[in-house]
Amino acid sequence: MKALVLSGGAGTRLRPITHTSAKQLVPVANKAVLFYGLESLADAGITEVGMIVGDTAAEIQEAVGDGSTFGLDITYIPQEQPLGLAHAVLIARDWLGDDDFVMYLGDNFIVGGITDLVDEFRGSRPDAQILLTQVPDPRAFGVAELGPDGQVIGLEEKPQQPKSDLALVGVYLFTPAIHDAVRAIEPSWRGELEITHALQHLIDVRADVRSTVIAGYWKDTGNVTDMLEVNRTVLEGLERRIDGEVDEETETVGRVVVEKGARVTGSRIVGPAVIGAGTEVRDSYVGPFTSVAQDCRIVDSEVEYSIVLRDASIEGVARVESSLIGRHVEVTPAPSVPRAHRLVLGDHSKVQIHS
Ligand code: TTP
Repeated sequence: MKALVLSGGAGTRLRPITHTSAKQLVPVANKAVLFYGLESLADAGITEVGMIVGDTAAEIQEAVGDGSTFGLDITYIPQEQPLGLAHAVLIARDWLGDDDFVMYLGDNFIVGGITDLVDEFRGSRPDAQILLTQVPDPRAFGVAELGPDGQVIGLEEKPQQPKSDLALVGVYLFTPAIHDAVRAIEPSWRGELEITHALQHLIDVRADVRSTVIAGYWKDTGNVTDMLEVNRTVLEGLERRIDGEVDEETETVGRVVVEKGARVTGSRIVGPAVIGAGTEVRDSYVGPFTSVAQDCRIVDSEVEYSIVLRDASIEGVARVESSLIGRHVEVTPAPSVPRAHRLVLGDHSKVQIHS
């Protein structure tokens, strides 16, 4: 069994971070989202991985290499444009051959891995198997409709009136039956070959499409809110480890990781939080659910529930919260200016002014 990992795409929802880097490489607890996925594939006993890459190919390739550090053998498959998930299957046809495969979206995060799912699929081998999870507002997702026996009877992409609250999770299991399906469909209104349409095609030709509803944790890390939420979940499982330098004036509370080469002085760090190698934290407060990557500077500042990417600096700022700070970013206080409100208000207006 092979795996097709999708690490191309446009990443519009994570702009501006994705203007300069791949969203699959944004770190969660200081490790790239994509690495968690690759580890779970290796855990499921898969070794051969085809990696779909787009504009950020060089960066992904530099981070992942030939895959040997994960126990994987990775082949890169360039996709000229992000023309859809089914398009990725189409262009990987030769590499996939006649093997079964897992399709894994590189920006998805599944707690607990996929080993049980892969084992179940290997045992029963339906034509395709999808993963579903209950979501509060299914309109932003691919949504499945299940029949009385739990078989998949219909799929819709981002429906206005969803037929269920079961959204597709970014992991799919396929037999070679999917290849005819991705060839049979037309691009959608957004110009993409949709995998939901390919699955619907399988259902229409009476192929066996099954589903597993996962109760565990799943997130598509495509936007900042979800990214911070995944970071929180992973940090929950952190174990305290202080390998860097922490002076006597500093207080570290709970599950705090200070990597080797980091330096923390005159500060208070409340876990779960991780401070990357080579980072300096001085006279600051770092609050729970914060990941600070390597070679950052946090001075005279407060940071909480945030992800700070490498080489960023935050100086003299109280306080940064629920934020994703990119690489080499500098955050400084605004100069104080005389404050005044200039208003042109229509009749019956109501305004609330913070002053
Ligand atoms: P999406 O998050 O659905 O698409 P996107 O990356 O274009 O992001 P946005 O909606 O913010 O613009 O993609 C899911 C995963 O699949 C992600 O890791 C990118 C990857 N992908 C490809 O590799 N090729 C593609 O053609 C598409 C659409 C996505």
